[in-house]
Amino acid sequence: MKDQDNKPTPQVLWAGRLAEKPEAEAFAFQASISVDQRLAQDDILGSRAHAAMLGKQGIIPPETATALDTELARIADELEAGKLAIDPGAEDIHSFIEGILTERLGDAGRMVHAGRSRNDQVALDFRLYLKRAVPELGAELTETIRALLDQAEQHTESIMPGYTHLQRAQPVTLGYQLSAWCAGLARDRSRFADALRRLDECPLGAGALAGSSLPLDREATAKALGFARPTLNAMDSVADRDFALELASACSITMIHLSRFCEDVVLWASEEFKFIDLAESWSTGSSIMPQKKNPDFAELIRGKSGRTTGNLVSLLTLLKGLPYAYDKDLQEDKEALFDSIDTVRSCLRMFRGMMASARFNKSRMEAACIGGFMEATDAAEYLVRKGLPFRKAHEVAALVVRDCVAAGLTRIADRSLAELKTRSELFEADIYQTITPAACVAARKLPGGPAPEEVRRQIRVLRGEIAG
Ligand code: ARG
Repeated sequence: MKDQDNKPTPQVLWAGRLAEKPEAEAFAFQASISVDQRLAQDDILGSRAHAAMLGKQGIIPPETATALDTELARIADELEAGKLAIDPGAEDIHSFIEGILTERLGDAGRMVHAGRSRNDQVALDFRLYLKRAVPELGAELTETIRALLDQAEQHTESIMPGYTHLQRAQPVTLGYQLSAWCAGLARDRSRFADALRRLDECPLGAGALAGSSLPLDREATAKALGFARPTLNAMDSVADRDFALELASACSITMIHLSRFCEDVVLWASEEFKFIDLAESWSTGSSIMPQKKNPDFAELIRGKSGRTTGNLVSLLTLLKGLPYAYDKDLQEDKEALFDSIDTVRSCLRMFRGMMASARFNKSRMEAACIGGFMEATDAAEYLVRKGLPFRKAHEVAALVVRDCVAAGLTRIADRSLAELKTRSELFEADIYQTITPAACVAARKLPGGPAPEEVRRQIRVLRGEIAG
């Protein structure tokens, strides 16, 4: 694939075997530098641990190991300071770093790759990167849960309708619903922590797929790089991307949660609900309709959940039927997972800012508890407490609701006691205080219920969970 008209391709690590290089467009097609350059610091850390181990094991001279370490540290600093730019024409980050080392140190640079393949190198870099990035996501989740719990705490007594089928179902509080969201986000947090525990094994020393005949010390490099242990099987080490699947899945689930919360926010921000008043700085206007204040942030977060679902499907599809061990297809893994991680991180940050600054319209939420007969279940349970079998109590309460509808009333409490008694003799004057929205909420104080004191307990449990 040589073409006189094309630009020359850069020096590659595999030039010895292939005299002819791909033409520029083809080279660029198979290159991954644009994606894996974010692994630069991880690649350097891996090389430093590998070089030090090669020195200790007598595979390279000790002074070469020292020179490599010094130069790698310098490269890391220069990259960090922006003094060294990553060459966008390089094949990948591994070739780029090794190329710089060789340019600067000559043969010493040519020694660093002993006992290593880019297959174990990329598996290592990816895991090292995730060991940094995933705890950061965990911290974003923690902060998001904290912001929601702060709001929840302010609203343990703010009555609002709870919905099933998007129909008014039973009165709850805003604090209760926000705590419900937090329970989901707390599971997300533990999913990330779980995946992190499983990926905490070091693939370095796995080589291309079958280890090395050189006396590498895999325990030493695993330890130096902060892994719990080396991976068990070299072939699996270069073939496995379960950690990417697990994390892409955790990202997708988190985004699905956010998309559902944002759907509620969008509904609540509508004139029809008017439960939430998003801060002006967390809303956008319309280019044509002067009156508009749109919940764009909530909509965009909801929309971006499509990406993470797509990335998970991409990864699953990428891996399906892929021969064990390494195949170049695997290069596609990073773009997908990086995008999922970036998406979750930015969405959590935006969702948090939007929710922390939002104001809630308590009187609208409370007013929405009138009409819709959300107290009907409590009226039935009132009769159960008086000894009526539940199925009969359900029927009585349903008939009372029908009576109200026929009479054009919006609340069971608008019926007189005499009228209620036509449906059941068990109704007494205390029914009226039992079926106010606040009383309905307060009575549901079982573990998991919406009663203010119980929600305060749930908030304490969630706070304890994110503190640990
Ligand atoms: N850029 C490659 C990747 O991301 C690095 C490993 C390349 N290995 C190979 N044998 N071509 O997967």
